[in-house]
Parts: sequence; structure tokens; C-alpha cells
Amino acid sequence: MEKRTIVKMPGDGIGKVVLEESIRVLDAAGFEANYIEGDIGWKFWCTEGDPLPQRTIDLLADHKIGLFGAITSKPKDEAFEGLIPELKEKGLVYSSPIVGLRQHFGLDICLRPCRTYKGNPLNFIRRGKGNTIEEPEVDVAIFRQNTEGLYGGVEWSDPPDQVYDALMTHPKFQKNFGDAPKEEISVSTRIFTKNATERILRAAFEHAKNYGYKSVTVCEKPNVIRETSGMMYKMAQQIQKADFPEIELWNTNIDAQMMWLTKNPENYGVIVAGNMFGDIVSDGFAGLIGGLGFACSAQYNPETGVGVFEPTHGSAPKYADYPVSIVNPIAMIESACMMLDYIDEQEIAKMIRKAVAEVVAEGKVRTYDMAKMSGRPDVIEHGAASTVQMTDAIIDKL
Ligand code: NAI
Ligand code: MG
Repeated sequence: MEKRTIVKMPGDGIGKVVLEESIRVLDAAGFEANYIEGDIGWKFWCTEGDPLPQRTIDLLADHKIGLFGAITSKPKDEAFEGLIPELKEKGLVYSSPIVGLRQHFGLDICLRPCRTYKGNPLNFIRRGKGNTIEEPEVDVAIFRQNTEGLYGGVEWSDPPDQVYDALMTHPKFQKNFGDAPKEEISVSTRIFTKNATERILRAAFEHAKNYGYKSVTVCEKPNVIRETSGMMYKMAQQIQKADFPEIELWNTNIDAQMMWLTKNPENYGVIVAGNMFGDIVSDGFAGLIGGLGFACSAQYNPETGVGVFEPTHGSAPKYADYPVSIVNPIAMIESACMMLDYIDEQEIAKMIRKAVAEVVAEGKVRTYDMAKMSGRPDVIEHGAASTVQMTDAIIDKL
């Protein structure tokens, strides 16, 4: 069989470190592939004025599967300062290349699983009856709509006249904002389309069906955000009734969900939400299973087959300069496992996940976060494992 080609996009900071570690694990597990490097991130913004060069888009269009580390993003003004002098005159505006990738390839389905590893000292615990300590087992799959909603990028400060006039046709805008000077108004829109909403809902229900989850929870705020959240919930009811009657449909408000999260996380199965609430609720659940060192994600377009797999964490620039890397590679390794699932290499994924589980359960090798240290360069001297040592331990178990 011809080897697969994977586009590896290390990006910035610790993205570069953890991506290479995940490839070491893939190699050791016997996954055979060619890796081509795709340029993305801060360096390319500074020197070329584009953090997502067209050549990287072309690579991904050709090969469809991307492994991504993390990038560094900076606010508009700071980003401008980073440009080389020749580019400063060109009126370039920085925008996040990962958001750019999502939008360019319509990677509208984002899946962020949060599963407890037995023996992880970072697992959430709570008090039970009779002053006992309980450690609920979390196994949640969060489906986040990845391209629309509040992160859709349709926004203005001092909106153009047509936009302002259109807003003024809404009685509530007139009443609540009509007195504010136009130039003092900022608007960020929350746009949902039926097509994308249906896709994320169906992805969630299908996942529940395929992996034996008993419920799908729509986590939005339909009582207040009536049009967008309301539409999502109503469509979920229709889809469940028509095609997934065996799966229960639950409905929680994002704010209440963040409270319930620590009361009964073991009760939830699949959760589905719009872009921002999906981002929030997935970070919330990730906190229960070990945080950024463990939080992995997949984003894909089921029609074109393009998929990009990445840890949820960012480039942690401070950590990138340490002489020995101390960050936890598990989030990236888990993301690589999600890639394997996506390309039908579930057996290898299973093997890697088992190896990770064994290392965590054994507890001999722990990165600084698992050892509950603050992330300074000297953690290694105090017994924390380095990034490489953690990867080696996982490879040893394979
Ligand atoms: P971050 O996720 O990079 O780091 C926050 C903190 O989390 C770190 O200081 C560290 O204590 C911990 N952490 C992160 N990854 C870890 C790992 N693998 N193991 C152990 N601990 C880990 O978020 P921050 O500091 O807010 O952002 C840094 C840069 O990353 C910014 O430029 C931001 O825009 C960018 N970013 C990029 C993302 C992406 O590429 N998808 C996502 C989030 C942030
Ligand atoms: Mg986030």
C-alpha cells in the first residue's frame, strides 16, 4: 500500500516540540507515513506578511490530513510591530492562521473528547457522602461548531451606515442603543446557518450512536439567545425525533452547565454547542481531566475529508525557550490518535492510548503539570519528567 502523506504544521513555541514528539510515537507504533512540513505561524507573518502562506493551503488541499502544533497570535497593534520594515507600509492586518484554516477548508466539525485517565493526579475529585472522596470518571465528547457564531469574524466598531441603519430597524436596538453615538458602538455578530447547525448536530448524534453514548446535550442558551441557540435546540429536537429516537436529548444553558460540570460530570455523554459556547464548555471539561496537557482536538470537513488535528493548548512561548522542554506531550499525542481514528487506523490509535494510559496509571513518569509544580526550568531537578522523557516512557510501553 502506498504510504500516506501527512502535512505537519509545527507552528510556534512548544508546538514545534510536541509535534515532533507525537511523530516519534506514531513511528514507534508502526504507523507509516511521509511527513511534509507546512509553514504556519508567527515567523511567516513577520517575514512574509502572511501567517498562513498559500503554499501551506495547497499542501493541505493535496494531502487532506494535517497535524498541527500551535501558533502564537498577538493583538492587532503588537502584530503590526512584528512585521519587517518592508512590510509595514502594506496595510496588512494580522488574523489567526488556525481560524483561517478552519474557514478556508470549512473545518466546521470540531470534536474535543475529555476522558479521565486512571491515576492522573490532576483528575477532578469531590466530596461524597460521609466525607468520602469521589473521583468521577469523565467521558465526554464535545462537538463544537467551528466556523460560525461569535467567532465568525463579522464585526465592526463604528459600523458603516448601512449596518447601523439596518440595526436601527430592530425595535430593541432602537430602544436600548439608539441614543449611543454611532462611533461609540461595537458590534460582533452571532450568525448560525441551518446547514452548519444541522451538520454539527448530526455529527454529535452519529458519534453518540457509534460509540454508545446514551445522551446528546445541546449546551446553549435558547431562553435568552432565542434566534441562534433557539434554532439549534429546535433542530436538535427534530433530528433526534426523526433519526435518533434511541438517544436522549438533553438541553442545558451554558452558564448552568459550567456550574453542573463539577457536580455531576459523569452524567454527560456527547455535548454539542455553537462556536464560543463549545470553546468554553470544552475547556471546562478539560479542566476535570488534567487541563491543557491532556486536551486534544480534531477538526474536519466530512465532505472534503480535510482534517486537522491539534492539541487545544497554545504555543506557551515562555516554555519554548527552556533548555530542556518540560511541557506535557500527551495532548498532542492524543490529537495524533484522533488523526489515526479519522483515517481508519483505529488499531494503532488504541495501542498508543493504551500505552499513555499505562504510563499515567503507573505514575513513575510525570511532567511538571502532573507533578503539580509551577512550570519553571528547574522542575526537572525536582523530579518532573521532561517532554522527551514522557514520550520515551510512552514509547517504551508500546
Ligand atoms: P497556552 O495554551 O499557550 O499556555 C497557557 C499555559 O498553559 C502555559 O503557560 C502552561 O502553563 C500551560 N500549558 C500549555 N500547554 C501545556 C502543555 N502541553 N503541558 C503543560 N502545560 C501546558 O496559552 P496562552 O499562554 O494563553 O497563549 C500563548 C500563545 O498561544 C498566544 O500567542 C496565543 O494566541 C496562542 N494560542 C494558540 C492556540 C492554537 O494554536 N490553537 C490556542 C491557544 C492560544
Ligand atoms: Mg479555547
